[in-house]
Amino acid sequence: MPESSTDPKFWNTRYAAGRTPWDFGGVPAALGRFVTTNAATLRHGMRVLIPGCGSGYEIAAFAAAGCAVTAIDLSAVAVARVRREFGALASLRIVEGDFFTEKFSAAPFDLIYERTFLCALPPALWPRMVARTAELLRPGGVLAGFYLFGDKDDGPPFGLAPDEPAKLFAAHFDLARDEAVPPAESLAFFAGRERWQERTHKKA
Ligand SMILES: C[S@@+](CC[C@H](N)C(=O)[O-])C[C@H]1O[C@@H](n2cnc3c(N)ncnc32)[C@H](O)[C@@H]1O
Repeated sequence: MPESSTDPKFWNTRYAAGRTPWDFGGVPAALGRFVTTNAATLRHGMRVLIPGCGSGYEIAAFAAAGCAVTAIDLSAVAVARVRREFGALASLRIVEGDFFTEKFSAAPFDLIYERTFLCALPPALWPRMVARTAELLRPGGVLAGFYLFGDKDDGPPFGLAPDEPAKLFAAHFDLARDEAVPPAESLAFFAGRERWQERTHKKA
């Protein structure tokens, strides 16, 4: 049977072997700018969720800004690493679990941030991912992150088609910002294919 990126084993094997070509190794520049630009809002204990957090470098940026962060990942190996690196942060809740089924005690969130999470999931799951994100965000809350564009061959990662986000997010979100990530700010594999996007959850 082919491997599936919905199986924790798929991710555990890669983290354990250090085969993590998506791992940025730090806080990506566009997120740093987002945190700086929104510092006034973030510092009031904003509840942030990072689904599929992986190594979770961004936790440090949000925690330093004053946010209460919940980070979740399916991979026990990734979660153990996050606990080692950031477990001492009082404002952090780390969950080993499934974004789709976890009962988050901090929900609804004010902000959901993601990087290479949507593109890690089989495209058939994308509508569910968007609906689940909407369910976990308060009305007016923000979904922000990096989105990978390109083909879907041999994924993950599975790239978005140029017109796909408009259809995928339209029912629940309004697009507030959409910028190409400068290639110099991306890992070589993603260079020229990433966009930083911010969306606002439509008020009911
Ligand atoms: C490509 S990695 C990205 C990790 C991290 N966001 C980064 O930018 O380095 C995708 C991550 O999503 C996690 N993941 C996949 N499906 C998940 C699910 N249903 N719930 C929680 N995490 C999931 C994987 O374990 C993996 O760590």
